[in-house]
Amino acid sequence: MQISFLLNGETVTADCAPTETLLDFLRLRRGLTGTKEGCNEGDCGACTVMVTDADGVRALNACLLFMGQLPGTAVRTIEGISDAAGTLHPVQEAMVVHHGSQCGFCTPGVVVSLAVAQAEGRRNHDEVLAGNLCRCTGYAPIIRAAEAAADAPVPVWMTADAHHLPADRGEAPASSDALAALLLERPEATIVAGATDVGLWVTKQLRDLPVPVFLNRCADLRGVTRQGAMLRIGAATPIEDLRKAVADSHPAWAAMLSRYASLQIRNAATLGGNIANGSPIGDNPPVLIALGAELHLRRGDARRAIPIESFFIAYGRQDRAPGEFVEAVTLPATAPALRVYTLSKRFDQDISAVLGAFNLTVEDGKVQSARIAFGGMAGTPQRATAVESALVGRDWTLASVLAALPAFAQDFTPLSDMRASAGYRLRAAQNLLVRYFHDLAGVAVQVREVSA
Ligand SMILES: Cc1cc2nc3c(=O)[nH]c(=O)nc-3n(C[C@H](O)[C@H](O)[C@H](O)COP(=O)(O)OP(=O)(O)OC[C@H]3O[C@@H](n4cnc5c(N)ncnc54)[C@H](O)[C@@H]3O)c2cc1C
Ligand code: FES
Ligand code: FES
Repeated sequence: MQISFLLNGETVTADCAPTETLLDFLRLRRGLTGTKEGCNEGDCGACTVMVTDADGVRALNACLLFMGQLPGTAVRTIEGISDAAGTLHPVQEAMVVHHGSQCGFCTPGVVVSLAVAQAEGRRNHDEVLAGNLCRCTGYAPIIRAAEAAADAPVPVWMTADAHHLPADRGEAPASSDALAALLLERPEATIVAGATDVGLWVTKQLRDLPVPVFLNRCADLRGVTRQGAMLRIGAATPIEDLRKAVADSHPAWAAMLSRYASLQIRNAATLGGNIANGSPIGDNPPVLIALGAELHLRRGDARRAIPIESFFIAYGRQDRAPGEFVEAVTLPATAPALRVYTLSKRFDQDISAVLGAFNLTVEDGKVQSARIAFGGMAGTPQRATAVESALVGRDWTLASVLAALPAFAQDFTPLSDMRASAGYRLRAAQNLLVRYFHDLAGVAVQVREVSA
C-alpha cells in the first residue's frame, strides 16, 4: 500500500507493507539510523520517536508502530529534533552540559522522550523516562539535563508539524460504522488498535497478518464521556488518556495506570486491546470487574452489552464472535472504596505478578456488597466470589477479614511461573485484602521505601 506522512518536516510517500514497522523503514529504507534498535519489543525506548496527529503530540516506540498506522501523521526522529540548520534542541544542549550520555546508545531515545515531554509541559521526568533504559550513564545526569531544559522555550520546529498534517489519511475505516461494515465483510481480519500486542506477533513471532484493520482513524471509538452516573470509555482510548481522565473520579485506578508499562506504551496501548486480548495478567480487567463494568460489543448493526467478567470464558477464549469488536466499556463514575494494588518486581515497566482490585460497600459497620477481582491468579482475570461471600453481611472488622482469608484457596489455584510461585501468589492475594482493610481505615499502605 502507498503511505504518505511527514518525516522530519518533509512529505514522504512510500510503498509499504502495512505491518512493516516504522523502525525498519527508518533504518533500512531511509538510512535514519539515529533511531536505535535495542529490544524490538517496546521495553527499552531506544527507538523512541515523536508522532503528531490530530490529537496532539506523543512519544511512541517505532519498533511497535506499523506503517499502516502512519497516514495523516507527522513523525520526528532524533535527526529532526534539532532544526534543519543544525541548531540543537535545548534538551540536547543540556545533555551535553550535564554529561547525560556515555556510550550513547540510549541517548537518541532519551532526547526524543525529553523533547516531547518539554513540548507537552510534563515535569515528572522519572515517569517520562520509565520507558527509556540507560545502562551506563545512570539517570542522575539525565534528569539534571531534563530539569535544566524544562523552562526553555519550545523550539518552533517542534510544534510546526501540527499545522502541516497530510490531508490523505489512508484507507483505514474512519468511523465505528465503517469498521463494523468492514469486519462483517472480512471477519478474518486482525484488528490493530495500539499494536503493543499485535506488534510483537509480527516482530517476535514473525507472523503474517493478511488483513490488518487499523483503528486509529476511528475517532468515535476514543474518549471518556460522562453519561449521568456512568462513564463511557471508547475501546480505542489510549491508556495514557484514560489515566488522565480517571485521575479525579477513580484515583486508585489512575495510580495503577501510572505504573502501566511506560509512557510510550501507554500512549499507544488501548483499553479495548487490553480487554480483547484476554490476557490473564492484563492490568485493567480486574479493575473493570471490581467496578461492575459492562462491555459493549458490536457486530454489524447488532449491539450487545455483557458484564465484563463473562467476557473471559477460559484461558485464550473470550465471548467474541467473528466480525464482532469491542466498542466501549461503561462503569460507575465514582467508587470511593475502589482500591487497586499491583505487585511486580520493578516499580516501572513491569507486568504484575498479582493485581488485586477491591470495591466494597460498608454501611453501619457491615459489608453490604463486595466486588473483588484479581489478575495473575488464574487463566483469566477472575472474581473472588468465595471471598466476597465470606465478607458480605459480616461486620467490617479485621477479625472478619482474617476469617475470610481461607476462602482465597476456594477461588484460586494459581500457577508458578517466572514472575512468582503459586504459594507467593496466594499469600500475597490474601495479604492484599488485609492491606485493603487498613487502607480504608486511613492507615498509610503505600510503602515504597522501608527504613529501619
Ligand atoms: C513493553 C510492554 C509493556 C506492557 N506492559 C503492560 C502492563 O504493564 N500492563 C498490561 O496490562 N499490559 C501491558 N502490556 C500489554 C499491552 O500493552 C496491553 O495488553 C495493551 O493494552 C494492548 O492494547 P493495544 O491497543 O496495543 O492492542 P493491540 O496490540 O492492537 O491488540 C491486542 C488484541 O486485541 C484485539 N483488539 C484490539 N482492539 C480491539 C477491539 N476494539 N475490539 C476487538 N478486538 C480488539 C486485537 O485484534 C488483538 O487481538 C505491555 C506490552 C508491552 C509491549
Ligand atoms: S527497540 Fe526497544 S523499545 Fe523499541
Ligand atoms: S549512555 Fe549508554 S546506555 Fe545510556
